[in-house]
Parts: sequence; C-alpha cells; structure tokens
Amino acid sequence: MLQSMLGAISADLAIDIGSASTRISAAGRGVIVDVPTRVAILEERDGKRRLLAVGAEARQMEGRTPADVRVLAPVQEGNIVDFEVVEVLLRHLMLQVQGRRLWVGPRVAIAVEHGLSDVERRAVRESAEASGAREVLLVEQPLAAAIGAGLSVDEACGSLVLDVGAGHTCVSILSLGGIVFSRRLRVGGDHLDEALVHHLREHHGLLISMTAAEEVRQRIGSVMPGGPNPSEWVRGRHIDSGYPRALELDANELRMALQGPVQQIAEAVLQSLERSPPDLAADVADTGVVLVGGVAALSGLDRAISRMAGLPVIVPDEPHLVVVRGTADWMGRNQRKKAAAG
Ligand SMILES: Nc1ncnc2c1ncn2[C@@H]1O[C@H](COP(=O)(O)OP(=O)(O)OP(=O)(O)O)[C@@H](O)[C@H]1O
Ligand SMILES: [Mg+2]
Repeated sequence: MLQSMLGAISADLAIDIGSASTRISAAGRGVIVDVPTRVAILEERDGKRRLLAVGAEARQMEGRTPADVRVLAPVQEGNIVDFEVVEVLLRHLMLQVQGRRLWVGPRVAIAVEHGLSDVERRAVRESAEASGAREVLLVEQPLAAAIGAGLSVDEACGSLVLDVGAGHTCVSILSLGGIVFSRRLRVGGDHLDEALVHHLREHHGLLISMTAAEEVRQRIGSVMPGGPNPSEWVRGRHIDSGYPRALELDANELRMALQGPVQQIAEAVLQSLERSPPDLAADVADTGVVLVGGVAALSGLDRAISRMAGLPVIVPDEPHLVVVRGTADWMGRNQRKKAAAG
C-alpha cells in the first residue's frame, strides 16, 4: 500500500549506464532519457570540482576544453570506473526526469555487468542511493537484454545474446531465467573506430579524431562485401606536414579496416558455444543469436556474424534500447511477483 502510494508520487525508473550512453525508462512513459555518459567539470584553484555540463552538452566539449575543464567518461569498457561521477550524472538525470526535487525518490533498477563482486554491487547501489533513489534493484545486463529482445528467458531452452556496445561486447548464454555462460570482450564501437584511425594513419599518414571515425563509420560503414560502395571525405591532419588534409574514403576500404574486430566478435560467439553444455549449444543452433547494442545497427554485421559463426542472427528493433527496456520489464515483473507474494 505504502509502496504503491510512493510509486504514484515518484515513478519507477529503469537505468542502463553504458560506456557511451545512459538511458532511462520510466514506468508508463517508456525511454525518456538517452544521453551521452559524459560529465564536464571545472577544476577550481582550491581543488574543488564544479559541475559544468552533463550528457550531450558535456560530450560536445570533449577535445575542445581549456586546461581547467575536464570531460569525464565514468564508464569504460562497460565498467563503472568513477562512482562519484556516476552519482552526479544520475542525480542530474533523475531530477530532469522528475521535473523537480520530490520528497520521495524513485525506485530504480540498474542494469549491471554479469559477475560483479558484492563490493562492486554495493558501490553501484550506494551511488544510486546517494543520487536520490529510495530503493535500488540490480539486474544483470545479459538477462535484461534477453528480456528486452522478447526472449522467453524462463524456458528450459538456451538462447544466446550478443551485446555489442561502444566499449565492450558481451556474449551470454541463458536458460531457465539464469545466465549459464557469459564472456566479455574488449571490442566495441570504440575499438572499431580505433581500428579505422589506425588504418588511416598507417596507410595514408592521416590522423583523424575518434569522433570523425565514428561519424564516417556510422554513415557509410558496412561489414559485408558486394553491396554499394559509397564514399565520403574525412578530414584530419597529415602526419608528415602537420597540415589539415582530407581524404575520400570508400565503404570497401572502411570494411577492410574493421575486419579484425568483427572477426574477434564472431570468434567469441563460436568459443562460447564450444564452452557451453551441448544441449544448450544445440538450442542456440536452432534459435540463433540475438544481436543487440548500438553496433548491431552497423550495416551487414548480422550477416557477417551469421556467415562466420554458421548461425542465424536476429536483430531486434532499436537494438541500442533493448537493455533499458528489458530492465524496465524485469522491474515490472519483480514488483508484480512481490505484490502477489503479499
Ligand atoms: N547506425 C549505427 N551504425 C553503426 N554503429 C552505430 C549506429 N548507431 C550506434 N552505433 C554505435 O553503437 C555504439 C554505442 O552502442 P551502445 O549504445 O549499445 O553502447 P553503450 O551501451 O553505451 O556501451 P557499452 O555497452 O559498451 O558500455 C557506438 O560505438 C556507436 O557508434
Ligand atoms: Mg550497453
């Protein structure tokens, strides 16, 4: 009774704090926040830190800041590395969602990595509580991803979820509502961009920014040969002369540059099948791989993985929002179960 009154005042929130983006879904409203996981701070002379900007505004400052301003990325390769900054980020976003400071904070569910230690789980919980949450539930990301993708996770049938985010990839096999196997890989969108930056430096003596690499990858990137071959100008600095220079990059060359990391992702899928119980591996051979995360939108990635791993690959709608939607769903189920249990 009290819980439902509090819930009416302050809506339940599901949160996915990714290396690149933080998403919040509010009960009854869907995904209402999708912002870069960035916080800009001003370091004052007396050592105090003053908050300057959060989200998109902070992201825009990246690479363009004066010496006393820092743009912080508190999640790296999928791990929270700065809990204090996460607390600042969550406080700001929760206030934005609620429109004003309420006397009762929201109940929140946060999607966390599989296999966190108790100390790490406590640290996540404490950051969320310090940012104003009245109750904090944690759900493991692979489970949230599977629920968000619409898989029937409680059945005795293995499913494989491949989440390719900005900072990392996670391959997980689930069955009977639990995670049977999960493996993390330091390969994600950021690493694809690094591979392109490296390629242009080695083959053309051109130094471009990670942001420029991400933009061109998102616009013309494709990892399967044989399709159209659009091209685009990329701008950077010529290493020898130091002068600004532009180069016309086509999709075929871009595909070659991305080959290594894509291969690593496909190999991780195969290895996880090799290491999982044979019955579950057989289930996955039938049901296929569910590919989620922002990089799932990279043209041809599903077909490339399908070809390399020899399995069907399915990409749900808006793959970058699957984890936060699944977290919201899981939270709703959890509350209903609790209510039913009295
Ligand atoms: N249309 C697109 N084509 C190619 N890549 C895309 C597209 N849209 C987003 N991405 C990439 O998806 C990545 C972001 O994915 P996502 O939002 O799942 O990451 P995250 O959850 O913040 O990170 P992580 O899960 O690794 O902590 C970025 O590298 C971005 O470039
Ligand atoms: Mg993610």
